[in-house]
Amino acid sequence: MPDQWIPPSQNRRSLDLAALGIPSGRYPLPDPTDYLTNPDGSRDGAARIDAWLHRETDLATLQPAEVAFIRQHFLRCVEEQRQKSITYFTNKVPRRYSTAQPTAIAQAWAQSVIASPEETRSLLIVGPTGTGKTHYAYGVLRAIAETGAPTGWSAYTAADLYAQLRPRTGRDSEATFEAMASTDVLFVDDLGAAKLTEWTEEVTYRLINHRYEQCRPSIFTSNVPPAQLRDVLGERISSRLTEMCERIALKGDDRRKGMAA
Ligand SMILES: Nc1ncnc2c1ncn2[C@@H]1O[C@H](COP(=O)(O)OP(=O)(O)OP(=O)(O)O)[C@@H](O)[C@H]1O
Ligand SMILES: [Mg+2]
Repeated sequence: MPDQWIPPSQNRRSLDLAALGIPSGRYPLPDPTDYLTNPDGSRDGAARIDAWLHRETDLATLQPAEVAFIRQHFLRCVEEQRQKSITYFTNKVPRRYSTAQPTAIAQAWAQSVIASPEETRSLLIVGPTGTGKTHYAYGVLRAIAETGAPTGWSAYTAADLYAQLRPRTGRDSEATFEAMASTDVLFVDDLGAAKLTEWTEEVTYRLINHRYEQCRPSIFTSNVPPAQLRDVLGERISSRLTEMCERIALKGDDRRKGMAA
């Protein structure tokens, strides 16, 4: 729940980036005086660009060359953001999965997350050990990074997640929980790998319920067969997962066996 309601009349008008074909986000603004060095540049044009940046006029009042100048600026920002996202992905992802490439389904899911996160169902990637679930999930995160959209993500194995949330003196585990629960895209790997205790079940429930209630997209992997999900994770968790997730079932042999020398 938001803790403050601002009447729409007080909301600042935001720049209409969609009309420029630019994904919404926070970007540095162009300097209108740079327009003077443009082949079509003029003082009047720079003034119109300035007025648009100050939300005083509509895009329709600008000349095509002025719109192109603004668009070029934001396209450069998007590309810069894209490079940063990919670098972040490559540095943060466990080395083994840093080259994971998205499948076509992963790419489509990433596009849907960017366009309408609240309408995008989460992913539950299931399959036996070694079929490539973690690899697949990191491929999805790469697809998100490659869009360059300002969409954040966090990835944890379930075991690491519990370790980070376990109450310890001097650490605010509730703040850690909040950060995990509110990230744009949350990836929890190996759900149900260890037998749940009362505490891990409660934490898992709270986290999944938070994502469920806020309609935030998540990616889960599990090697628990779907028919046993309820027994392993409990009714409350498995029922939410079933409703909120699109299931991707990976089949085949343990890829690790094929890799053994
Ligand atoms: N599509 C793929 N292309 C190339 N290598 C892959 C692919 N999918 C998985 N691998 C490789 O196969 C191995 C097993 O994959 P991964 O770790 O993703 O399996 P998993 O299903 O998550 O296993 P577990 O259930 O034990 O967690 C890894 O070394 C991974 O890099
Ligand atoms: Mg795995």
